Amino acid sequence: MTLRSVVKGTGSALPKRRVDNAELAEQVDTSDEWIVERTGIRSRYIAADGETTATLAVEACQKALGAAGIEPNEIGLIVLATATPDQTFPSSATKVQALLGIDDCIAFDVHAVCTGFLYALSVADSMLRGGNAKRALVIGSETFSRILDWEDRGTCVLFGDGAGAIVLEAEEGDAGVLSTRLHADGRHNGLLYVDGGPSTTGTVGKLRMKGREVFRHAVVNLADVLGEVLADAGFTASDIDWVVPHQANARILDATAKKLGLAPEKVIVTVDRHANTSAASVPLALDVAVRDGRIKRGDLLVLEAMGGGFTWGAAALRY
Ligand code: UT7
Repeated sequence: MTLRSVVKGTGSALPKRRVDNAELAEQVDTSDEWIVERTGIRSRYIAADGETTATLAVEACQKALGAAGIEPNEIGLIVLATATPDQTFPSSATKVQALLGIDDCIAFDVHAVCTGFLYALSVADSMLRGGNAKRALVIGSETFSRILDWEDRGTCVLFGDGAGAIVLEAEEGDAGVLSTRLHADGRHNGLLYVDGGPSTTGTVGKLRMKGREVFRHAVVNLADVLGEVLADAGFTASDIDWVVPHQANARILDATAKKLGLAPEKVIVTVDRHANTSAASVPLALDVAVRDGRIKRGDLLVLEAMGGGFTWGAAALRY
């Protein structure tokens, strides 16, 4: 028997306010037609004052804990992936810990932009198998609306806010995380970045992206890293029950599935409703498909993401 990190429950949260493409087209020079055709996005959720990365994360965690039947104080580790923390410090993970009423646990943020949840999952999996804790909350939560340039139609139509969380528990058996692979190539820092920060400008900054370049790298990197995790876990593409991808662009999802020879019906798609929620997109999509009954116990899942850095990664897991 092997000690593995098993997904015991999933949860997610979205801000109350839903903004469709027509509403955006009243503010910037764009159209529903352009956004749908180029990205597949139809709407996104935008956080109001008081809805923050930490508060959305807490709601997602409460739902994941409820689904797992686990009390907050049974959690020994919180890893929160975000590029939009409530404050530069302390970590949003410690804020989530306090709001959940957890007296003592390990808690920290992980920053790998859109790949953040894969980085968080891999770190939490290693720590659980290494004996640092028995149960973990692994979270992706973002409020990208706060770092968008609302006058740049090339980026502001693409992103939304939200959070997703899973409860992981170390258990002997065949289910759980089977393999993870992470990558980074910092030579591409300038293709997707924020033009501010505490140590440079002293400001938060706004998101900037060379979309076409990112798109080109995304399809190649995602197909490669999916191949790697499948090979590590001893599977081929035909064994996959569900792909739970980062939701940046429906065309990236289609192109990646095609490159791997995967049926499009096996790909969980939420980008149409949520837009790109960065580190939150994978756990949000996972929770949607678990709760609507598509993902069932025993299914083989592959999770993948790619984002600023560049960073990219994937995981294979038996749900
Ligand atoms: O989460 C991290 C990973 N991020 C991604 O993976 C994003 C990857 N990139 C993409 O998804 C796509 O490149 C975009 C959706 C960002 C852009 O699609 P594209 O087909 O690459 O379009 P483009 O940037 O080359 O722009 C084509 C045209 C331009 O006009 P001209 O120069 O051809 O006259 C843009 O000015 O579309 C114009 N355009 C818009 N038009 C209406 C750009 N944004 C908009 C807009 N509405 N919102």
